[in-house]
Amino acid sequence: MSPIYQATASAPVNIACIKYWGKRDTKLILPTNSSLSVTLDQDHLRSTTTSRADPSFEKDRLWLNGKEEEIKDGGRMSTCIKEMKRLRKQEVEDKNPAEPKLSSFSVHISSFNNFPTAAGLASSASGFAALVSSLAQLYQLPVSPSTLSLIARQGSGSACRSLYGGFVAWEMGSAVDGSDSLAIEVAPQSHWPDIHALICVVSDDKKGTSSTSGMQRTVETSPLLQHRINHVVPQRMKDISTAILARDFDSFARLTMADSNQFHAVALDTEPPIFYMNDVSRSIISLIVEYNRLSLAAGGGYKAAYTYDAGPNAVIYAPKENIKEIIQLIVSYFPQQKDSFKDNFNLFSADVTSQAKLPAGFNENVAKRFDVGAVKGLIHTRVGDGPRKLGDEESLLNAEGFPK
Ligand code: DP6
Repeated sequence: MSPIYQATASAPVNIACIKYWGKRDTKLILPTNSSLSVTLDQDHLRSTTTSRADPSFEKDRLWLNGKEEEIKDGGRMSTCIKEMKRLRKQEVEDKNPAEPKLSSFSVHISSFNNFPTAAGLASSASGFAALVSSLAQLYQLPVSPSTLSLIARQGSGSACRSLYGGFVAWEMGSAVDGSDSLAIEVAPQSHWPDIHALICVVSDDKKGTSSTSGMQRTVETSPLLQHRINHVVPQRMKDISTAILARDFDSFARLTMADSNQFHAVALDTEPPIFYMNDVSRSIISLIVEYNRLSLAAGGGYKAAYTYDAGPNAVIYAPKENIKEIIQLIVSYFPQQKDSFKDNFNLFSADVTSQAKLPAGFNENVAKRFDVGAVKGLIHTRVGDGPRKLGDEESLLNAEGFPK
């Protein structure tokens, strides 16, 4: 029997505190500014991918959540697979001719997200990171996550940051070939494990502007973007790294909220303007602002930070000890259906909406109360680790190399 060459890996989602928005090279996916994100825990949100190489496979094929997707020639997926095969040849086969020539075999790839696409969470970052990780494992590549991030970046820019756990910077670099535009670990998960995240999944019926096309329009038309990339982000990257290394939540929160605001400002400054937040998103901002105001007025510090990507969902970062209070605050304005909150950390002994409560002194008029469904789900998670190697028992391909 011929050997089976197969590997399975999972990779996390990341949510940026300093946002990537704009490309200087759309093919290589080179950004107009550096960015920084927090990697979220794969126990709650992840993409899992199995890759298999076999001389009998006729062509590269990909299945996403069980459904076959076309691998377009010259497209992002095809680029990533090609680059991984090139690395296999260069790092393994050319150096050791006795190694099997896996780079010349076609691959079958099956990938699965444990969160519904309908949740409105971007899966491209975890998806491309899992793809690259599983191929690196299959090809037994002796390379660092930063090297793999160069390839994941060409799948989707933000994917390069999912190659590390903890707190991760994507350094924009300056080389025209993109060789220095890669992810580095600012601090591992273990440095600041108390950072938790609450994702508020905001219902959104209309089809929005994709990140890819939206950011290009911003690059072409927004004068504010030039100010942002030249005069704002460089200092923020330094400041937020310092804040993370010092576990200084006050600075981390201020910078994260300011950068989310400015990202949405450059979206609005685009011609025609792009709106990613809606009334629900803005009301959540008001709640977090009031929550922080109360604490600051009492001589305390910031207790939570909101951030929004290219859609209406809120991600609230906060120290672990504040999360229960934040959930009670959010459900006071956004009641939940019974199964729309999974209590991953066992904070509540009863249905979450029955636990709704405002902190003492909270000005309840800062937002109106919404009906059930305005926030259609809450996901409580935390800072997590980088891609994981999984065993064969987690494989997504059957004996013949097709999705199970
Ligand atoms: C707002 O990485 O999805 O989430 O590189 O075109 O695939 P492409 O874009 P993508 O953009 C993410 C934009 C963002 C900010 C961020 O994650 O830094």
